[in-house]
Amino acid sequence: MTLKKRILRTLVLVSLGLLIGGGVGLYQISMEDARVLKKGESHSTDTGIAGLKIGGPFTLTDHTGKKVTEADYAGHYQLIYFGFTYCPAICPTELQKMTKVLNMLPQDASDKIIPLFFTIDPQRDTPDVMADYVSLFHPRLIGLTGTQPQIDNVTRAYRIFANKVNDPELSDYTMDHSTFIYLMGKDNELLSIYRIQDDADYIKSDILGHMLSAPQA
Ligand code: NI
Repeated sequence: MTLKKRILRTLVLVSLGLLIGGGVGLYQISMEDARVLKKGESHSTDTGIAGLKIGGPFTLTDHTGKKVTEADYAGHYQLIYFGFTYCPAICPTELQKMTKVLNMLPQDASDKIIPLFFTIDPQRDTPDVMADYVSLFHPRLIGLTGTQPQIDNVTRAYRIFANKVNDPELSDYTMDHSTFIYLMGKDNELLSIYRIQDDADYIKSDILGHMLSAPQA
């Protein structure tokens, strides 16, 4: 197989994997509350995700090599994405979308948000790899990695589906994974879940809606 064919094949496999992975993630969450993922309902009255438990304590290492926990980001809005740096298509697109949202928001609103990128592939995504990768997107994007048990803990807490896929015809493994962007509030509570089809405009408006309706500190 030529290199070009191999890359094309990887793209197709990963895209399929993401579709399936995303589907499993959707299913897991919709078991909790079927209304959660209907477009337009993720914000509105918040009843759709009320009681949906996403998140929890974690200990990880950021892309500068610093040990961090969820407490480091409490008190801020957080825009969260789980993925991996070797992902050829969906992860870069979603992280670009997060960057676009941060740049579209008024400066004071944007400054209130900490963007976080959690890897689901700690074996390859070391702090150095994460540092190179996050610098491609937004100057404030924080990359988080850790040991496999630490990552397993955090993907479980955030209900992220992640699965290593080996293909004997490929030189390296790839990952199936959920592709949600989460908006978390200042107490690490889930405010919204965004999907691939939610564009930057929609996410921006939704975030501003949450900020306007939040009690002023
Ligand atoms: Ni990906």
